[in-house]
Amino acid sequence: MAMRVSAPGKLILLGEHFVVHDCLAVAAAVEKRAVATALPHETVVIDAPDYSIRQEMTTGDVLSFLSEAQSLREKEDVESLKRLGRDPLLPLKVVTGAALANCSGKGVNVRVTSDVPKASGMGSGSAAFVSLAGAILTAHGREPDAKTVADLAYVGDVLCHGKPSGIDNNTVAFGGYLKFRKSSGPEPLKVSPKLHVVIGSTGVSAPTSDMVQINRDWLALEPARVDHLLEQAENISQRGLDALKSSDAHALGALANENQVILRELGVSHPFLEKLIIAARKAGALGAKLSGAGGGGIMYAICDGEDAQARVAEAIKTAGGKPILTQLGAQGVRKE
Ligand code: PMV
Repeated sequence: MAMRVSAPGKLILLGEHFVVHDCLAVAAAVEKRAVATALPHETVVIDAPDYSIRQEMTTGDVLSFLSEAQSLREKEDVESLKRLGRDPLLPLKVVTGAALANCSGKGVNVRVTSDVPKASGMGSGSAAFVSLAGAILTAHGREPDAKTVADLAYVGDVLCHGKPSGIDNNTVAFGGYLKFRKSSGPEPLKVSPKLHVVIGSTGVSAPTSDMVQINRDWLALEPARVDHLLEQAENISQRGLDALKSSDAHALGALANENQVILRELGVSHPFLEKLIIAARKAGALGAKLSGAGGGGIMYAICDGEDAQARVAEAIKTAGGKPILTQLGAQGVRKE
C-alpha cells in the first residue's frame, strides 16, 4: 500500500541570519503542506510535478550520488554542493538516497506535491524533503519520527543552501513552535499562542546562500559592529520566548520591529520588503519584519485580532505584495 506523509511550511519569527552564528532563533510551522506518497519498488522513481520532474534511476545510482554529496560535505566544498543544488532533481535524489540508506530499502516510487509557496522563505524545500524522507521510511515499515526525518532532510537543504543552520528542516519536522540554536539543536516549545499573522510575499527571490554570504562578509569586515548586532539578536529572541509563553501579541510585535532594525542594518532587507512592512504598520500591525533569508521573499505582520488582520492583508495587497493568511503552530511531519 502507498504511504502518505505530509510536512508543513515554516515561518522564522525571530533570529534568522543571526542563527547562523549560533544565536537563538524562534520559528513556527505554517499550515501549508507538502505531501509525499511512497511505495517500495525495484528501482527509484522520483515524481515531483511542481518541479516538472519525473525520473527513474537505479538504487545504486542514488546511493552513489549520496556518497558523492557526503564526501563534498566532509571536504566542506560548499560551492560544489550549491552547484549540484541548482538542478531541482538532485536535492530530492540525495534525500531519497539518505532515506533508503537509513531503512535498507531496495528502491522506491515516490511522488511529492506541495502547496507551500516555492522559493519564498516558507520552507518549501524542507517541507518537500521532510515529507519525502518520512514517506520512504514509512513505506519500508519505519516510523517517521521528527528527529530522524529532520536529519535525513538536512542533506537536501545543504544542496539548496550550502551550509544551512538547520532551523528550516527542524521546524518543519517538529512542527508547532520551536526554539533553535545551531549548537544545541531544536527545542519544541509548549506554547499555542493565538496570533493573528499576515505573511506578505514580495515575489522577489534571492538565493538564501547569497543572503547569508552578506552576513558572513559583514562579520569578517566589521566584527565589532556585527558582534553588537548578534548580542541584540540573542536578547530579542530570548524576550520573544517570554512573549510567546504569555501569548503577548503586543510584545511580539514590538520585538518583530526591533528585529527588523538589526536585519536592515545587516543589509539583508529589500526596498519591496520595507514597502510591505511600512504598509502593514500604517494599517495598524503591532509589528512587522522580514522572515527567512530576506533580499525579497517574505515579511510577516502581527495583528491585534481578525479585523486588524484583514486591514493589514488589504494594505499589503495595495502595496503590491501577496498576502497569505495561514495558521501558525501547524503539526509537524505526520502520516496521512
Ligand atoms: O532560506 P530561508 O528563508 O528558508 O531561511 C534561511 C534562514 C537563514 O537564517 C537566513 C539561514 C539559515 O541557514 O538559518
